[in-house]
Amino acid sequence: MTPQELKSLVRTIPDFPVKGIQFRDITTLIGNGPGFAATVDWLATRVKDSGAQAIAGMEARGFIFGAAVAAQSALPFLPVRKSGKLPCDTIGVDYALEYGSDRLEMDPTSVTAGQRVAMVDDLLATGGTACATAQLLRQAGAVVSHAFFVIDLPDLGGAVKLRECDVEVAALMEFD
Ligand code: PRP
Ligand code: ADE
Repeated sequence: MTPQELKSLVRTIPDFPVKGIQFRDITTLIGNGPGFAATVDWLATRVKDSGAQAIAGMEARGFIFGAAVAAQSALPFLPVRKSGKLPCDTIGVDYALEYGSDRLEMDPTSVTAGQRVAMVDDLLATGGTACATAQLLRQAGAVVSHAFFVIDLPDLGGAVKLRECDVEVAALMEFD
């Protein structure tokens, strides 16, 4: 499937979750078997080229792609969770979103010192989630130099912000 065909599988829902947001919904992309497989292949190829030794995915949509890529690549998957979900001791970070704010947490013992960890998520908007995740992973001892997304919304500046935190970015498709 071409990137253009994959892009056509993403559904746009206006004014969700708040007025003025064009919500780019990957439900319809993952609901298409060949489309989901081609998307995971695209991400897995970039992860392999990056030399990553583990993949971190951000709750919740980052789990869908991150875990699939990790399994296909036979790499460990590190879940970065929303507040209060992990049963173990955690490290956490608060961050701003395109439409609100949130907190992410992780198990600091899930990373080994110097381990190269790539981030995988469905969508890059302001970059707040991915920058906060890079900060957390680095606090736990990881080396974080790459992030891979299905969708980039370049007008929101996430890729620029991520490069400022020394993270290289690649995305399968862009929306205005
Ligand atoms: C969405 C998306 C990314 C993040 C991108 O997650 O899945 O993780 O927003 O936005 P940013 O670049 O401005 O940080 P959301 O927090 O809505 O959670 P969800 O995956 O549980 O829907
Ligand atoms: N997360 C942040 N902004 C988003 C958008 N416009 N569509 C889908 N998910 C998002």
